[in-house]
Amino acid sequence: MNLPQNRTRLFEILAGLLATQLIVFGLGFYMLHEPTRIAESQTQILHTQLDDAMTLYAQNCSVCHGLSGEGIGATPALNNPALQTMAYEDLTKTIARGRFNTAMPAWSREDGGALSDYQISELVSLIQSGDWNETRDRVVNLGLAPLVPFTTEADPALLAEVANLPDGATLQTAVTLFAANCVACHGADGLGTGIAPALNDPLVREKTADELTRTVTLGSAGTLMAGWSNVLTTEEISALVTLVQRWDEVPTGILPAPNVPIATTEESIALGGQLFSQNCSRCHGPEGQGTQRAPALNVKAFLTDTGDLAIQQIITNGVPGTAMPVWGDRMTEVEIQAIVGFIRQWEATAPEVAVPAKGGGGGPPWLRNNTTTTTTTAGQGQSAQATPQAQGQGQSAAATPQGQGQGQGQGQGQGQGQSQQTTTPSWWQTFDWSILLLIFGVLSISFTLIFMGFESLRNRPKIKPPEK
Ligand code: HEC
Ligand code: HEC
Ligand code: HEC
Repeated sequence: MNLPQNRTRLFEILAGLLATQLIVFGLGFYMLHEPTRIAESQTQILHTQLDDAMTLYAQNCSVCHGLSGEGIGATPALNNPALQTMAYEDLTKTIARGRFNTAMPAWSREDGGALSDYQISELVSLIQSGDWNETRDRVVNLGLAPLVPFTTEADPALLAEVANLPDGATLQTAVTLFAANCVACHGADGLGTGIAPALNDPLVREKTADELTRTVTLGSAGTLMAGWSNVLTTEEISALVTLVQRWDEVPTGILPAPNVPIATTEESIALGGQLFSQNCSRCHGPEGQGTQRAPALNVKAFLTDTGDLAIQQIITNGVPGTAMPVWGDRMTEVEIQAIVGFIRQWEATAPEVAVPAKGGGGGPPWLRNNTTTTTTTAGQGQSAQATPQAQGQGQSAAATPQGQGQGQGQGQGQGQGQSQQTTTPSWWQTFDWSILLLIFGVLSISFTLIFMGFESLRNRPKIKPPEK
């Protein structure tokens, strides 16, 4: 063995040692790091799950279980400590299969519902470890806050007028039944809400009595429309069908929307403020104090006399024949509700008498142009008024129908779920980077082996050809 060969040998040994050290170090690091890593990615996954679950709750459950799981009427609370400690399987089963013979529908796809098993497990996480305040904000920001109370009183004067119509007594009964059972979903004057279609509608009037009776009696599978056969008598259902078919004869305003304040969050008020300054302040003044173009909104008399839903309705439909435009065709319900929330928070400090802002009608020409353009829009909007947007519009409200306590409608609420996409954490969020160290170690040991093999090949004793 000569000197250079020894040096190679030394190098090989050192390289081998280094590689072994790297592997040992990598493994050690991995083992030490693993528990924290698992904990971190579990927190991450739980966070994503809870985030999804809040939206699922807003879309599917808040209607009956309330804005923040507090329960509505006879529907139990979900923000309940007993549920937090309930066995995971039992809670999952309750949501997946529903409660037979109650308003609590089955939600799993297997049982005809709208939610995947994963989504149901997310909801279980929400009930057991979620934050109900955050959930409340989510429900409000999505414009899905349920309207409580769910029932209205029919306007007595208009109800009396109905008696003069042919078969008026039947219509009167039906209006009263509708106020108690259907208005929460189908809206004031039957004009529909975000969760149920208008019944006061020419297309519905075209349907046959048989068809309508079947829907009211048996419900519409997979939707919030429950069958009413065990709550209402055949005569009552037939009266309701008569109302649906003859709604055009019934005076408007007979079934007012329940006057419920629109729920707000910091976010929704900020959005409302922004939309107000972009769209409304040029006529109503930057602080709603009014200008020569439009009346003050920031004034006691207006705010105390006008409920949130009424303000929402004015904004949605405009005031026909005035400069107040229709906004329902260019803003979403959520946006209009945000403006109402913004206007409402003036109430506490609103002056008794408005002091209009200067510079209304006499403003610069571009402002006057604006006024003319919007006036035209208001004209267009008048025709839009005919669309069934009016009162209940925007009540994302719903409710368990009144008969709930009487055990009506299993399967009700079913399928209302717009199923929602779930986000799984991306690979790099859960990837363990110490794996790289291991790979590096393995690579360097293979490299050493190859190098050693190559060296020994090169140094193999030369076989001399036998001399002749
Ligand atoms: C149409 C109304 C309605 C909807 C929508 C609804 N529930 Fe229910 N839920 C009920 C009623 C009513 C009960 C009580 C059933 C009973 O009497 O046992 C209930 C019970 C429950 C219970 C058991 C509570 C307890 O204390 O035992 C859970 C959990 C629950 N619901 C979760 C959900 C979830 C999650 C959703 C949304 C995916 C949802 N519910 C949607 C009406 C509803
Ligand atoms: C919990 C919400 C809810 C309640 C309460 C409710 N409905 Fe419905 N209703 C719906 C939904 C959602 C639909 C649409 C079903 C579909 O898409 O098939 C519907 C559909 C209907 C239809 C069919 C409309 C058509 O175009 O064919 C009629 C009729 C009807 N409901 C009548 C009533 C009556 C009468 C009551 C009160 C006794 C009532 N509903 C209570 C949610 C509700
Ligand atoms: C082009 C000018 C103009 C714009 C822009 C405008 N409004 Fe109006 N608004 C009016 C006028 C004019 C009236 C009074 C209508 C009447 O005579 O009843 C009015 C009335 C109202 C009322 C009813 C007030 C009352 O005392 O009954 C509300 C609420 C309202 N506007 C809200 C809004 C909101 C919110 C916006 C922005 C989204 C807006 N307006 C944008 C001109 C405007």
